[in-house]
Amino acid sequence: MLAMYGRTWAVFLGGILLLQVLQLAVGLDNGLALKPPMGWMSWERFRCLTDCQLYPDECISEKLFSRHADLLVSEGYAAAGYEYVIIDDCWLEKNRDNDTQKLVPDKKRFPSGLNALSDHIHEKGLKFGLYQDYGTNTCAGYPGVIKHMQLDAQTFADWDVDYVKLDGCYANISDMATGYPEFGRLLNETGRPMVYSCSWPAYQEDAGEMPDYESLKKHCNLWRNWDDIDDSLESLMQIMDYFAKNQDRIQPHGGPGHWNDPDMLLLGNYGLSYDQSRLQMAIWAIMAAPLIMSNDLAAVRPEIKDILQNRAVIAVDQDELGIQGRRVLSRNQIEVWQRPITPVAKSGHHSYAVAFVSRRDDGAPYRIPFTVKELGLTNPKGYRVQDLYNARNKLGVFQSESQFITRVNPNGVTFYKFTAL
Ligand code: GLA
Repeated sequence: MLAMYGRTWAVFLGGILLLQVLQLAVGLDNGLALKPPMGWMSWERFRCLTDCQLYPDECISEKLFSRHADLLVSEGYAAAGYEYVIIDDCWLEKNRDNDTQKLVPDKKRFPSGLNALSDHIHEKGLKFGLYQDYGTNTCAGYPGVIKHMQLDAQTFADWDVDYVKLDGCYANISDMATGYPEFGRLLNETGRPMVYSCSWPAYQEDAGEMPDYESLKKHCNLWRNWDDIDDSLESLMQIMDYFAKNQDRIQPHGGPGHWNDPDMLLLGNYGLSYDQSRLQMAIWAIMAAPLIMSNDLAAVRPEIKDILQNRAVIAVDQDELGIQGRRVLSRNQIEVWQRPITPVAKSGHHSYAVAFVSRRDDGAPYRIPFTVKELGLTNPKGYRVQDLYNARNKLGVFQSESQFITRVNPNGVTFYKFTAL
């Protein structure tokens, strides 16, 4: 009798194990992020400012996030597609609740609790994102999820979270390839759809390991490939170079539901000029990157706001095919980046977004001709060309043998749509 019970029990346990393995194999498949997510996140601009007496408008607090939810709507960003309001690091108490072991938001800085904040964000028609870390601690030293994964996934669902950024500080890099999918499965099991942003490849790349992009595609909606962005042209260029040099192994994996993430937009802060701001926006659109701003939305100058809300550029980023672009050519320190987009001509030829990036600093805007063919565009019927930063600049029709001349400002960009005829 006992032996029979033992067998039944073993079959039962085996069944559960099999189900879990199957779920892991099936992957996230949550139907989310079919286009690169757009929104606003605290980290790049507001870091871990926690002194609300000294910095009442900048500290990581419910006020900062509800103010930015309001600004996303009142300043027109929501209408342009920016949707997620994401709390990055430094929102937690240093300890979990003694009795329940639940995560506790900082009591002084989030006195109303995260449900009240998420309600406010949802009432504005926006979505709520939250940062946590796979390891024992977040990068800034707050408690991480590793020993409480199920409880934390459920707590996120209870707070009506729509987007989770899971960082990878204070963790074993060798555990990440199984641990991140496991947390994704637990998020799924709550029944609440949550976009899942993984940082595991960034940590692997840093340690000289090769991320398994097939697994990432299956288990995460987006992933940070590499280092953090900082507020400078140098940092921006390093990230662009990293993506360009590694494009053969990175680019094919971006697509609807699973995106490469080169990190936040710097626009509206201190480090980028007007031209450099246009440059980041154009290249992020070429890379089908998530468009996550990190700035003080009350302080963005009007000309920078126009770039952030440029509908033609956003449309490239959000193109429904979701094919990530590449750097295809570099001549005289002018780089050509292009991305296949819609509409696709009856002949099967794609339209393209093409960005010319100047890495030059020799003063005058640099004039440079390319044949359209050299840009990788070979539609026999040619292309109608439109300047994405200047709708009034109608450039007409170009054949693949035609010469296309552009003039790029130092450390700047020109950005065009070539619509296949
Ligand atoms: C890491 C991440 C950043 C940010 C910080 C917070 O560095 O890559 O994006 O979340 O941690 O501590």
